[in-house]
Amino acid sequence: MLSMEYDNDDTWRRPSTPKVEPSKCQPIPKRSTTVAVVVLGLAVLSCLLGYCVLSETLPYESKTLRLVVILFRHGARNPTHTYKSDPFKNYQWPDGLGSLTNVGKLQLYELGKKYRNYYANFLNEEYYEKEVYVRSSDKSRCMMSASTFLAGLYPPTERQMWHPELPWQPIPVHSLPRELDNIVAGTKKCKAWKAMYEELLAEKNADPKFTELFDHLSKHTNQSMRSVLDVDFLYSTLLTEQEANLKIPEWTRNVFPNKMRMPFMLSLALLSYNETLQRLQIGPMLGEIKQSFEDCVTHANVDRSLFVYSGHDVTVVSLWRALGRRELLEPEYGASIVLELHEEVEVKSTFFVKAFYRNNTKVEVPMELKLPFCDDPCPYEKFTEHLDKLIPADWEAECQNVAH
Ligand SMILES: *[C@@H]1O[C@H](CO)[C@@H](O)[C@H](O)[C@H]1NC(C)=O
Ligand SMILES: *[C@@H]1O[C@H](CO)[C@@H](O)[C@H](O)[C@H]1NC(C)=O
Ligand SMILES: *[C@@H]1O[C@H](CO)[C@@H](O)[C@H](O)[C@H]1NC(C)=O
Repeated sequence: MLSMEYDNDDTWRRPSTPKVEPSKCQPIPKRSTTVAVVVLGLAVLSCLLGYCVLSETLPYESKTLRLVVILFRHGARNPTHTYKSDPFKNYQWPDGLGSLTNVGKLQLYELGKKYRNYYANFLNEEYYEKEVYVRSSDKSRCMMSASTFLAGLYPPTERQMWHPELPWQPIPVHSLPRELDNIVAGTKKCKAWKAMYEELLAEKNADPKFTELFDHLSKHTNQSMRSVLDVDFLYSTLLTEQEANLKIPEWTRNVFPNKMRMPFMLSLALLSYNETLQRLQIGPMLGEIKQSFEDCVTHANVDRSLFVYSGHDVTVVSLWRALGRRELLEPEYGASIVLELHEEVEVKSTFFVKAFYRNNTKVEVPMELKLPFCDDPCPYEKFTEHLDKLIPADWEAECQNVAH
């Protein structure tokens, strides 16, 4: 059950450390005696100031982290669908079907604050336009989730306060109209993808292990429930009604949530089930991520240090699968996947990539995602080699959208 209580703990905060200006994607300055002397001088000075022990426990991010990509699912929302026998068919949802609830707004605000604390040594305290790029699905709940996330991530510094009663500053959230969005929502038309997806969906729906469940649901909802996609919508509706403290019907007892969960998660996974579907479903986003990594590695863009994507449960699942994970996933509200680009400069400059998953907005310790196609740590070259397999050179052509 979601609660509105405001969770203000700071447990994500890493050990407090002296503020270091991260080098981001800037070329590492050539070592010189002057630099060495200055560094030594600073080290001595910080020891005198009592930071000596602390600086040994500096989170690794502050030393090697260069770029962060965060993809999250929007916060708690109203149901998007109803069903024929739904006792709450005419329920007056505040703000209407599919909209972000106040709980949802708060969840993403909290998530923003958690990331602020987590990356305190990496992100500039002050919002700087060129440092951050935010892309959202055009659905209102995603746009609004991005906004409250940013309110938590970048509260205005004193200099940035522009109204004494409003500790908030505007931060742009970019989005493409749904019919053009093949990057976050994946709603742009793709003929080849649709044909493959429908073939796969039909194949899964024909699995006899679902027959009993489909029969039960069809009977009680008073409508045809013969697809994992139908189960997907019904599962989400029952879940949101239950979260709103509505008493869902007796007949759901022995199927919800347990028996419906697997077909629900399967339905989310089918959009990006294998590599061919991944290329068309999430390839363009992977292309954008690869480009931003490359711009950092080659110092083509020395300002950007954070990309944020605000999407849906299926967006999270698609990236999860594109990272080689095969487990079915039920991303909760605000679940997030993070990709970190690091630079090791000890011997010579080498880049590597780390991935993390946070189930929901309350998670304290991120789970590091083992990448099955790579060693740990995953060298940048290995990572991009994997991405290259999933990035179409010409998405439109591969979708067979253009008549030949
Ligand atoms: C199911 O549909 C039938 C026929 O349309 C109708 O008579 C019946 O009342 C419906 N039952 C429920 C629970 O909505
Ligand atoms: C992915 O699934 C679709 C639909 O079943 C199929 O046409 C395609 O060949 C599959 N691709 C791979 C790489 O297995
Ligand atoms: C979060 O994810 C981890 C790893 O998949 C899992 O072990 C854990 O049970 C999950 N926690 C919740 C609250 O779902």
